[in-house]
Amino acid sequence: MAVEQHLEQGVLTLQLHRPDKKNALTRAMYSTLASALDAAQDNPEVRVILLTGGSQCFTSGNDLQDFLQGGALAEDSPVFHFMRALFDSGKPVVAAVAGPAVGIGTTLLLHCDLVYVSADAYLQMPFVTLGLCPEYGSSLILPRLLGMQRANALLLLGEAFSGEQAAVWGLANAALADGPQTLAHARQQALRLAEQPAQALALSRQLLRAEQREALRARIHEEGRLFAERLQSAEARAALLAFLQRRKQAVSC
Ligand code: COA
Repeated sequence: MAVEQHLEQGVLTLQLHRPDKKNALTRAMYSTLASALDAAQDNPEVRVILLTGGSQCFTSGNDLQDFLQGGALAEDSPVFHFMRALFDSGKPVVAAVAGPAVGIGTTLLLHCDLVYVSADAYLQMPFVTLGLCPEYGSSLILPRLLGMQRANALLLLGEAFSGEQAAVWGLANAALADGPQTLAHARQQALRLAEQPAQALALSRQLLRAEQREALRARIHEEGRLFAERLQSAEARAALLAFLQRRKQAVSC
């Protein structure tokens, strides 16, 4: 199974498991994740969701082969379903990130409640390099969180940054020494959240999110529309092919 699910002590762990492709997310994996998130909403036994790729790799982002072969991205495509399910999750989500977290591997963190990273994690949003555009609210959240110049470097140049840097910038709660420690700490924090009074927790999450909620939803929708358009562009097709053919200009790592 490319997404493993495990429920214990109120914590539903969703673990990406496609190590040969650095946990690149296929349509099938997005569907599984989206369905698991949706099902968790109605399951009183699930108090918290822990999202991880294990102790070595979070995810290399969308499967680039899928991008090339998948045709147009429709509103009801698995990736958008997953984005909506995470954005609208009524249960708190904790992320444990080690190794690469590229593309949606970074942008999804902007929608998690708590994020723990290994200090040497590798985060990157190479959308423009791939002929694409920012996604999942990153064009709205990052300038507000980091300032316009840093957001420009991350989104326009696709500059990579470490887990340590992510914690300094406030994109993560803490950077841990390595992958196993990151997983252990994230799990401990998830268990702490699971022990909080559920209704107070749910209400407080709503309050914390209220201000930006509708603007963010609208931006995610607009970015998604433009991203789908860009995916069909000659620029994007060339960049995606180049990565898959291992030509250097595809992704600057
Ligand atoms: N989609 C499909 N396959 C991917 C992939 C992706 N997003 N990321 C990695 N892979 C595959 C590679 O093609 C390679 O497959 P192969 O062994 O059959 O040739 C395998 O996973 C290992 O990747 P590799 O690049 O050798 O690993 P690395 O440790 O040197 O680098 C990354 C890891 C994540 C930094 C690098 O693979 C990368 O930059 N991937 C692309 C990320 C990306 O652009 N994502 C989409 C953003 S929108």
